[in-house]
Amino acid sequence: MTSLVESLRAAGCVFAEEEAELLTGAARDDGHLAELLARRVGGEPLEHVVGWAEFCGLRLEVGAGAFVPRRRTEFLVREAVALARPGAVVLDLCCGVGALGAAVASQLPGGAELHAADIDPAALAYARRNVAPYGGRVWEGDLYAALPESLKGRVELLVVNAPYVPTEEIGLMPSEAREHEPLVSLDGGADGLDVHRRVAAGAVPWLAPGGHLLIETSARQSPSTASALASAGLAVRAVTSEELYATVVIGTA
Ligand SMILES: C[S@@+](CC[C@H](N)C(=O)[O-])C[C@H]1O[C@@H](n2cnc3c(N)ncnc32)[C@H](O)[C@@H]1O
Repeated sequence: MTSLVESLRAAGCVFAEEEAELLTGAARDDGHLAELLARRVGGEPLEHVVGWAEFCGLRLEVGAGAFVPRRRTEFLVREAVALARPGAVVLDLCCGVGALGAAVASQLPGGAELHAADIDPAALAYARRNVAPYGGRVWEGDLYAALPESLKGRVELLVVNAPYVPTEEIGLMPSEAREHEPLVSLDGGADGLDVHRRVAAGAVPWLAPGGHLLIETSARQSPSTASALASAGLAVRAVTSEELYATVVIGTA
């Protein structure tokens, strides 16, 4: 264990002891442990190496080529759950591995009718397994084009963590994200808000009367995200968490 911790520390892993335990727990045998250590020391995100990420107390499957759910996104889940009725129809759009949808459904008394959609089949392979315990269904395609017509007018909670990093800032991201998460999961176009504008513009036909769209953004981008939702005819407010360094814009139909 000592040499494992030392190797991780030498590679710049700040939480070397914790990581050593997680790698040991994930390894089948010594050979496999050496393989996992080499991947981690080589710069792969810990979650990709061990195959899971913790999110809102759930252990979600993730792996190479998938966006790793961020701790700050737990704030959106908290806000969504506070707005939902038990058994609500929930759509996790741009779902990645399905973290938002799985977490909301796991916290609603009576569960949810859960749908999750993404354009990236690699992410959906994980999402399918992560939403299965909640009876969730996954849909593949470009935003709303992925969805069945039967969902129109029925979505009570539309939860979205779409890409919102401006293209020019991708190069400033940590290498774990830049090199190991797909560009489609990070790049939000010139001002970072291309996908936000499209999500907002297309939302209303899918929302139930009184339904809510919750979308994660940054404090800096929040006024532009809010104005995209307002232009779509939604009543808008923004909420922030200093603890999680998180901002969510909420639009209500
Ligand atoms: C920042 S990641 C977030 C994933 C997930 N919501 C989470 O918080 O863990 C953004 C996701 O949006 C998806 N995406 C990007 N453009 C999309 C589009 N046009 N239609 C559907 N999904 C899209 C990416 O494939 C990626 O999974």
